[in-house]
Amino acid sequence: MIPKIITIDGPSGVGKGTIAIMVADHFGFNYLDSGSLYRSLALALSEENIDIDKDLVDFKKLLAKINIDYRYCKNGEITIFVNNKEYTNKIRNENVAKMASEVAKNSSAREMLEVIQRNHIKSPGLVADGRDMGTKVFTEANIKFFLTASVEKRAERRLNQLKDQGISANLPNLIKELLFRDKADTERAISPLVPAKDALIVDTTNLSVSQVFTKITKEVDKRI
Ligand code: DC
Repeated sequence: MIPKIITIDGPSGVGKGTIAIMVADHFGFNYLDSGSLYRSLALALSEENIDIDKDLVDFKKLLAKINIDYRYCKNGEITIFVNNKEYTNKIRNENVAKMASEVAKNSSAREMLEVIQRNHIKSPGLVADGRDMGTKVFTEANIKFFLTASVEKRAERRLNQLKDQGISANLPNLIKELLFRDKADTERAISPLVPAKDALIVDTTNLSVSQVFTKITKEVDKRI
């Protein structure tokens, strides 16, 4: 049987990851967090002191040597190793996210990561979340979603998440960071953040996680 593919795209902080994991576990599908690959690559490059704009030749050579081993188990358990070094937790901060947004502008980096992303198609299916899952990497997906939410709501959710982790942050700064990344992600020349023509748009501003989950799984049940 051909594996089914569900794509969930949207801006930073919209809650794609939480929903995508719930949907993947519900259907017993594999889960791909494509942003974690951009983060891992960005961190690996910064550890090698490679500046992609200045060191283009070195960058291409280095890409060939970087092995990103991403695995999804279940219950949101992701492990990432880059050249056998564990990256799982150290890619989860705003600094790495910013670097990832920069790396994401580079076409060689995107091509390299696209191959890795497609290797995660597995039976009975895959849920992939990111910015260009429906528009570029998995154009053949059985069903595509694009999640949105106001920047204030996204920042509020991020603030609560950070609070739960015992990390202090403030709302105006979080809004600034989200707007910065929205701009970088939507204005880049290659694979910018836009909904696929055939994507279902879900505005999550006034919806709870379980309401979004129910909406998405109902649509999936109808179509696949
Ligand atoms: O989803 P995230 O915050 O982990 O993603 C980090 C950055 O990676 C994001 O700002 C842009 C880039 N990215 C991308 O360009 N394409 C994707 N499919 C996923 C992430």
